[in-house]
Amino acid sequence: MTSPEAEPGPRREESEEVPVRRAVCPGSFDPITNGHLDIIDRASRLYDTVYVAVMINKSKKGLFTVDERIDLIRQVTEDLGNVRVEAFHGLLVDFCKDREIPAIVKGLRAVSDFDYELQMAQMNNGLSGVETLFVPTNPTYSFLSSSLVKEVAAWGGDVSHLVPETVNRALAERLSKP
Ligand code: PNS
Repeated sequence: MTSPEAEPGPRREESEEVPVRRAVCPGSFDPITNGHLDIIDRASRLYDTVYVAVMINKSKKGLFTVDERIDLIRQVTEDLGNVRVEAFHGLLVDFCKDREIPAIVKGLRAVSDFDYELQMAQMNNGLSGVETLFVPTNPTYSFLSSSLVKEVAAWGGDVSHLVPETVNRALAERLSKP
């Protein structure tokens, strides 16, 4: 029987390294939406460090440059305290390998997301052993995508409930320019 005074179980030696639990949320983030932010927020509660990896796609001109997207993401994730935002190009598995990240966290909005996400998860696992964890998107954001936000905002629709305030302002400013 264990008495209340009993010594606690084995403790880590001072010199023993404590593993840092890292994960990455990858995407285009052109721009970040409340749906992305919800997934990053939830991942940041599960992992010590969450990397947000912003894909550089030279063949596709975005509304925001990669640097602008990174700046917006940094502003809206600052208060989470354990989020690092970086650009990447090439394979996501190489980004993970370079930073010793064992897990990719992705939001699943609907069944229609699943086919492609499953293919990518299996390919990435086959390439390097990295795991993908799927988080069900908050139903409030199940229809939300950066493309739809840009389309609605471009036609003057109100997207203030779909993106952080900083992003809403950046969208209004960018789209007001001819
Ligand atoms: O926000 P998006 O555009 O849906 O994000 C797609 C992204 C960046 C997660 C995906 O295209 C990706 O991981 N690209 C990096 C290139 C790569 O690793 N391709 C092989 C995937 S199996």
